[in-house]
Amino acid sequence: MNNIRNFCIIAHIDHGKSTLADRLLEMTQTVTQREMKQQVLDNMDLEQERGITIKSHAIQMNYLQEGQKYTLNLIDTPGHVDFSYEVSRSIAACEGALLIIDSTQGIQAQTISNLYLALEHDLEIIPVMNKMDLPNAMPEVVEDQIIDLLGCEREDIIRASGKTGEGVGEILTRIVKDVPPPVGDPDAPLQCLIFDSVFNSFRGVIAYFKVTNGTIHTNDLVKFVATGKQYQADEIGVLKLKMNPRDELSAGDVGYIISGIKTAREVKVGDTITHVKNPCDKAIAGFEEVKPMVFAGIYPIDSDDYEDLRTAMEKLQLNDASLTFQPESSAALGFGFRCGFLGLLHMEIVQERLDREFDMNVITTVPNVSYHVHTKGGEILDVYNPSGMPEATLIEDIEEPFIRAQVISKSDFIGPIMTLCLEKRGILKKQDYLTADRVELTFDMPLGEIVFDFYDKLKSISKGYASFDYHITGYRSAKLIKLDILLNSEPVDALSTLIHFDNAYNFGRRICEKLKELIPRQQFDVAIQAAIGAKIIARETVKAVRKDVTAKCYGGDISRKRKLLEKQKKGKKRMKQVGNVEVPQKAFLAVLKLD
Ligand code: GTP
Repeated sequence: MNNIRNFCIIAHIDHGKSTLADRLLEMTQTVTQREMKQQVLDNMDLEQERGITIKSHAIQMNYLQEGQKYTLNLIDTPGHVDFSYEVSRSIAACEGALLIIDSTQGIQAQTISNLYLALEHDLEIIPVMNKMDLPNAMPEVVEDQIIDLLGCEREDIIRASGKTGEGVGEILTRIVKDVPPPVGDPDAPLQCLIFDSVFNSFRGVIAYFKVTNGTIHTNDLVKFVATGKQYQADEIGVLKLKMNPRDELSAGDVGYIISGIKTAREVKVGDTITHVKNPCDKAIAGFEEVKPMVFAGIYPIDSDDYEDLRTAMEKLQLNDASLTFQPESSAALGFGFRCGFLGLLHMEIVQERLDREFDMNVITTVPNVSYHVHTKGGEILDVYNPSGMPEATLIEDIEEPFIRAQVISKSDFIGPIMTLCLEKRGILKKQDYLTADRVELTFDMPLGEIVFDFYDKLKSISKGYASFDYHITGYRSAKLIKLDILLNSEPVDALSTLIHFDNAYNFGRRICEKLKELIPRQQFDVAIQAAIGAKIIARETVKAVRKDVTAKCYGGDISRKRKLLEKQKKGKKRMKQVGNVEVPQKAFLAVLKLD
């Protein structure tokens, strides 16, 4: 156990975690040049394309230093806020962390939030300044920031580059020297922390874990504490580039278990594995049931595809336990599902996988958060959909989820960032200068406000410089009302939103204007109205047009005509017939794009 080092890499998104991990694997000859494709750890197609790490993975390296053999377990962590619970579990499986900071960018919001997570778990931190090969690297400035943040010495900071390999050898040396070996008793009752799982269509769910105490053998009868389920450990082993089966793993080891588990829901990240006989008396602390925070309706464009959509959602859920869905129907869109996601990125990923892996053509409605509604009758309802809101007269109080948000930016942008956050009903809690020209702003804000277009706006007002992170703090009471949209006097439930009373009029007006831009002209006038209850607060009209796109090439070239018709048909595909009005997908997301 003295020669084991368990570490993770934490960083703000795009600071070069995966690239640096690749260099470590190369240098320890864990992968050969031939096997080395760029970013071997990001092995999901979507991850590679988007260049982001969605699921964390673990890999074991062997490393020889001064005649001593070491086992280094690298636990990769996702860098996006939507997946921060997974980061926290991966961190809990380690004794040390490489804190990667891009030398051209400096400290960003997730650098800090991930660092705090690591410090909470008493991890040894090794600061690494990455991308030193770039001409715009600012090593001294960024070093100052790191020293301020960690209270370390300048010499402690490793200068590295995932591109050229600079500093990678030093990183390995420091991991061995600075990261303490795991503690734990191989003879104690078994206690393993599950920090990740993946779904494999041949082998079922594979859970990744760290043995905190005790020893596990192949074929042992084990129990997952949170779910209470029992399994036989059909196969256990360690993770190299492939899975390497072993007969036993003991305290300090990181490995995988395959035990005939069929769905991802049975394996909860953060859960404890123990023996059925001689179980440990306490589960590992910190287990949390992850709850979806953002909800949206997903509907098939063609209602005949409803059953296929259900099958696709079930398959997605097999390997994505944080995705939830339940059938719902909308007067406007027919039958579909109300889905729950960890956040907006998670929602986008699900949408893209539906399209890519299942060829499902779907309409997604405006995302919203979940509300606690206190009725006058004394009930408390969880409402996941604005159209599921009880009548206003029956409501005593509505509570919405609140977050604590951290924004880090150059101080030049404080003004516009404050304005944006206040517009989004944020309350400034703290303002800290990290260096003379970098500031950290802390706000309390409703989650519902960032679900809309907060992130894009923040990026644009700060010219891409501001970074942002948040965590949920709880629910607070708010004066929210339901705003309905009517098309030719018919309410379109899928366009309803819950909005703060003070913003409702302005919002209603802007959404009508936006819909007018997005809804194409039809054979008749289309009236667009915004209403609160029976009261119309805004109105726009899309004027009728007699549209024959081929008319203008009458008698002309037939292939051009066909092309135009094809084009029209394609445009149609993403339209949904709502009453007698054709509404494009973009219109259902109009509120996300208000200027
Ligand atoms: P997430 O997994 O999304 O959090 O990103 P990451 O932190 O893993 O970053 P990744 O390794 O994907 O690198 C982000 C981008 O920076 C990629 O385009 C890399 O090619 C580039 N990059 C990473 N390290 C270096 C480096 O040392 N020098 C240069 N010039 N580019 C780098």
